[in-house]
Amino acid sequence: MFRIIREKSLPSTNTYALELLKNKSIITPTVIIADVQTKGRGQSQNQWFSEEGKSLAFSTVLFPKNIKAERQFVLSQVVCLSLFRALSNYANGVRIKWPNDIYINEKKCCGVLIENALMGEGIAYSVCGIGVNVNNMQFSEGYLATSLYKESGQVFDLESILDEILSHFSDLYEKAEQQDYSLLNSWYHEYLYKVGELCNFEDKDGVFRATVVGIDQYGQLLLEDVEKQLRTYGFKELRWLV
Ligand code: BTN
Repeated sequence: MFRIIREKSLPSTNTYALELLKNKSIITPTVIIADVQTKGRGQSQNQWFSEEGKSLAFSTVLFPKNIKAERQFVLSQVVCLSLFRALSNYANGVRIKWPNDIYINEKKCCGVLIENALMGEGIAYSVCGIGVNVNNMQFSEGYLATSLYKESGQVFDLESILDEILSHFSDLYEKAEQQDYSLLNSWYHEYLYKVGELCNFEDKDGVFRATVVGIDQYGQLLLEDVEKQLRTYGFKELRWLV
């Protein structure tokens, strides 16, 4: 499905993808992989650290035809489910933490940065940046992190893990393009972190406790607070507290 562009070193595979899109050098589905990423970008202007030869840093560039802008969260579901499927072959306790992190046993193992360009009601292109801690023991700062190696005790071949992720990605992306949302939703819910559990959160009004119910069709997180009120949160409106 993908054309592959591999570079020895890039500041950021997402930034490079956006540059190539800008000058129209990419017009078909493409994966950009860097052996070394020197200025990896994370969510909220954070940096993402990758260890050369030990972790994966790549971006998929997609041109969705049948996915409406209002349904763009399905791309996050495709990425997370691909990662979930590939990693859960090798480790127990893999979970998808809303909106788009992969956790293993309460620690972050993969980070995802999706940058979409919307066009009218549709999506002109989507850059899905994916960082996977495979064999590394050094991590980005600011949160509890882990790697596949740390969780399983096994050393992995980076190319095999990448191939597995991309193979799941192609299958799941096809489902998204066919608008098979209910299937993708049911899988996403099945592997969702802390679903049914009471957790601590912080929103603009302060700290509160609530039970994770799931997500709605737009990818907003649904919580039931201790007064049994349903609360809905969009991306970046909520912080999980440990
Ligand atoms: C996060 O959890 O903060 C998101 C991290 C995303 C990291 C990946 S690595 C490949 C791609 N290129 C980047 O600069 N960022 C993403």
